[in-house]
Amino acid sequence: MRTLAVYPGSFDPPTNGHLDIIERSSRVFSRVIVAVAVNLRKNAFFTPAERVRMLKRLTSTMANVEVTSFRGLLVDFARVQEAHILVRGIRAISDFEYEYQMAHMNRKLDQEIDTVIMMTGERHSAISSNIVKEIAQFGGKIDDLVPPLVRDILISKLKGAKRR
Ligand code: COA
Repeated sequence: MRTLAVYPGSFDPPTNGHLDIIERSSRVFSRVIVAVAVNLRKNAFFTPAERVRMLKRLTSTMANVEVTSFRGLLVDFARVQEAHILVRGIRAISDFEYEYQMAHMNRKLDQEIDTVIMMTGERHSAISSNIVKEIAQFGGKIDDLVPPLVRDILISKLKGAKRR
């Protein structure tokens, strides 16, 4: 059976924790669509195009992974893609309640959709995109938290923002 899964998120920016989930889900499902959410409740630092570009470069060696963005409801995007599986990562038990609510709500919106939860690798359980941005903003080391590509782009964008 061929299985198509959507891995949605804000990816602002993508971290090693996100990549861990992408790599592992690419081994479980026959195709994985990494979907960058455009209409976020949070104010994003990177534009959707920048986030898609970074993720495309980071997953360029994974043949069954594609990256795109979406706006509107996640279930509507999944339906258009003909995907019935949503992948989400949880880093700690504190993530569970939020994921539980989203999984139920998405299933209420579309009975055909199932959410598969993966445990984020232990090494990445304390990472969040906001923490990465905050550490980088104050000159801290983020080498263990994000891939070198993201580190360089983030530092250069922060420098640009400071100059303005
Ligand atoms: N490793 C490390 N960090 C991770 C992670 C992992 N595996 N998975 C999530 N995170 C972090 C993210 O970096 C992010 O950190 P931040 O808050 O500091 O930015 C945080 O966990 C949550 O991020 P994310 O997984 O991107 O979820 P989100 O809550 O930002 O986005 C969507 C969730 C986009 C899937 C959801 O809002 C959505 O579906 N939106 C579309 C509208 C919709 O359909 N709404 C109804 C939903 S029921």
